[in-house]
Amino acid sequence: MTRTLRLTPAIVAAVLALALPAAHAAGNAAAGKKKAVVCFACHGENGNSLDGQYPRLGGQFAGYIVQALEEYKDGQRNNPIMVGFARTLTAQDREDIAAYFSAQKPVIWTLKGEVSGSGRRQGTSL
Ligand code: HEC
Repeated sequence: MTRTLRLTPAIVAAVLALALPAAHAAGNAAAGKKKAVVCFACHGENGNSLDGQYPRLGGQFAGYIVQALEEYKDGQRNNPIMVGFARTLTAQDREDIAAYFSAQKPVIWTLKGEVSGSGRRQGTSL
């Protein structure tokens, strides 16, 4: 005799409801802001760095930030600056900091007067 488990929509919904929060433990953005103070010098207080050598974190997906920080910590990403910072963070720190930066509004800077694809540059001042 074979017993088949039928995946009714209710069962699927219940499994997803249980699985989703566990897959990504929510960080606390308010706590993250305090922990991220050391990051602001390069990445900007709202994650919108003004210097091209520092990636913008504002509005980035939290999961991406967490993963990047894990990769610096375990050496998959090898940047001497970030490896040093990432090693000081706990798993909870990573979640909190990621929650903070991902909640910030991303800012896109464009050259004044320049229209993408127009081939015409009308001004270079920001
Ligand atoms: C001294 C400057 C500096 C400080 C301070 C700093 N970072 Fe960075 N960060 C960088 C640089 C440079 C990179 C790009 C490194 C690379 O090329 O991998 C980077 C990359 C990152 C990335 C990857 C971004 C991406 O788009 O892949 C994350 C996430 C990040 N930093 C988070 C943080 C956090 C969180 C802190 C504070 C705990 C912090 N950084 C502090 C300079 C800094």
